[in-house]
Parts: sequence; structure tokens; C-alpha cells
Amino acid sequence: MKKVRVYEVGPRDGLQNEAKIVPADAKVAFIEKLTAAGLGHIEAVSFVRPGAIPQMADATEVYNRIKNGKATYSGLVPNAKGMETALAAGIQEVAVFTAASESFTKKNINCTIEESFDRFKEVIRMAAEHSIPVRGYVSTVVQCPYEGEIAPAKVAEISKRLIDSGVYEVSLGDTIGAAVPDDISRLLDAVVRVVPAEKLAGHFHDTRGTALANVYRSLDYGILTFDSSAGGLGGCPYAPGASGNLATEDLLYSLHRSGYETNVDLEKIADASAFMREILTKTPASRVFAALKR
Ligand code: HMG
Ligand code: MG
Repeated sequence: MKKVRVYEVGPRDGLQNEAKIVPADAKVAFIEKLTAAGLGHIEAVSFVRPGAIPQMADATEVYNRIKNGKATYSGLVPNAKGMETALAAGIQEVAVFTAASESFTKKNINCTIEESFDRFKEVIRMAAEHSIPVRGYVSTVVQCPYEGEIAPAKVAEISKRLIDSGVYEVSLGDTIGAAVPDDISRLLDAVVRVVPAEKLAGHFHDTRGTALANVYRSLDYGILTFDSSAGGLGGCPYAPGASGNLATEDLLYSLHRSGYETNVDLEKIADASAFMREILTKTPASRVFAALKR
């Protein structure tokens, strides 16, 4: 049986984009429920400028309260300052992030793509000193909300550069959920030539309901790691029109019925989503959650 690694990003990618600021107690309870579902990796927080993303301002408190749990908990880090805070919190894994579009990079992290690599150099050096694994994200891999279509060759170049800089995996972000499977084929035809599929992950937002189809096209290319958010929480505050990530429930339902093993319990993920429904007073976007009639 083939194994798929599900990388849960709901507590970070999901909650960073909710209008309601979720209290630390609820974030900790949410992450504990996700851990109880058997997830091996959970992106729990980000160490970014609190003025930019107030939803993540309590990252240190949340991290300190969850870090002894059973999963690997990671934090998104944009620069050395964020890495210092992450190290002080006892971080287990970090993720750096850039994009294939200059306009998006400028809006998101206030620098050029080139400058983002200068910042990562320092973050990766600090991580190596503490034997902390670093993951890398490339955003806007198919379309940018400001520049439109993105050339697959550009994504391939940036992905390769991230791997050469020392990240163990590159997660390819369809930030605004615009891609369809044929876009994914064009993208991966270019990317897998320079980065092996074992070092790639799919991070598909589900704005137009195409994320799961994109997962299946990625599986054809040998990619076996996918990012998702419990309930389909999420978006990106710097990507107008972006809605949540592919829902973890929708991913699990389809993978399990197709014979893939994830070691993650779908019902327990739905427990976590039901909990967040009460906190956010908002029905989860996940179709499978709706079908479970919780
Ligand atoms: P900047 O303003 O260019 O930074 O921000 P700066 O170095 O000029 O510093 C300005 C002020 O920010 C200073 O404070 C710094 O200390 C402070 P002051 O002296 O004015 O009081 N500062 C920080 N504070 C806390 N933590 C830090 C930090 N760095 C500087 N790490 C920065 C640059 C990147 C920090 C800022 O633009 C930022 O935080 N942006 C938020 C980016 C973000 O979180 N975006 C959402 C996540 S990415 C995403 O969702 C996409 C993804 O899911 C994949 C996909 O879907 O495609 C990953
Ligand atoms: Mg995202």
C-alpha cells in the first residue's frame, strides 16, 4: 500500500486568514485534537511581524504549550528575527517562504525574490546550528493575483535554488487556487526535471474546487506529500480572492478509498473541525465534513 504524508497547515495557513483572532487556549486545543488524529507534521504558528499578521501574534505562547506533543510542530519564519524567536520557543522545524512572482513577494514579505534568498541563507545557517529541518515554500506556482500566469521554468529555478540552499522539501503553492490538472502537468514537467518528486509537496488552495484533482495529477508524478487544513480553513492575506487550503477531510476521504495509507484518522480530524466551527462560528468549507453531518 502506498503511503501519503499529510502535512496539516490549518493552525497557521488557516487561522492567519480568519477575521476573528482565535485565543491561544483554543489554538492549543485545536492543535491537540489534530495531534490526536495521528498527524505527523503540523504547521502550528508563524513568527512574522505581528502588525502584518495579528492572528499569529501569540505564536511563542502557543508553541510553548504544544511542543511536547506527539507530532512535529513547525513554524513559518521569514527572516533571522523570526528565527531567533522560533529558536527561543524551542522550535522543532521551520519553513521559509518565497514566490515565483516578484509582485507577490513584495506584497507578502516586502522584498525581492533575490533578497528573500539572502534572508533564508541566515535562517538556514541558524537552523543548521541547531539541527533543525527547514522546509521551503514557493507561492504563486501557477497564477499570481498581480501578475497572472507564471512560467513553470521560473518555479523550477526557484525550487532548485531552495533545495540547493538546504531545505529538505519544497512545497509548491497554488496560493489562489487557480490551477487545474493540466497546469499541474506543465508545472511538474519542468520542476521534476530539477528537483526529484520525493522532495516536493503539493500545497493547493481550493478556491475553485480543483485542489483534489491537482493532488491526483501530482500523485501521477510521484509526489507523496500534500498540505491541507482541517475543515478547509485558510487563505493568504496577501492574495486577494484566495480561499482555504484543500480540506484535510476531503484529502483523507479520497486517498483512503483509493488505497493510500496516511495514518490519520478522518473522524478525529472532523472532531477538530467541529471544535473550530464553534470557536469561529463558521461552517467548515469541507464537503466531506458536511457529509459526515456533525
Ligand atoms: P519588513 O517590514 O520589511 O521588515 O517586514 P523590517 O526588517 O523592515 O522590519 C520592520 C519591523 O518589523 C521592525 O520593527 C522589525 O523588528 C519587525 P520596528 O523596529 O519597526 O519596531 N520585524 C519582525 N517582528 C516580528 N517577527 C519578525 C520580524 N521581522 C521584522 N519575523 C516581514 C518583513 C517578512 C517580517 C513582514 O513583511 C511580514 O511579517 N510579513 C508577513 C508575511 C506572512 O506571514 N504572510 C502569510 C504567510 S505566506 C502564505 O500564506 C503562503 C503559503 O501558505 C504558501 C501558499 O499558499 O502559496 C506559505
Ligand atoms: Mg497557503
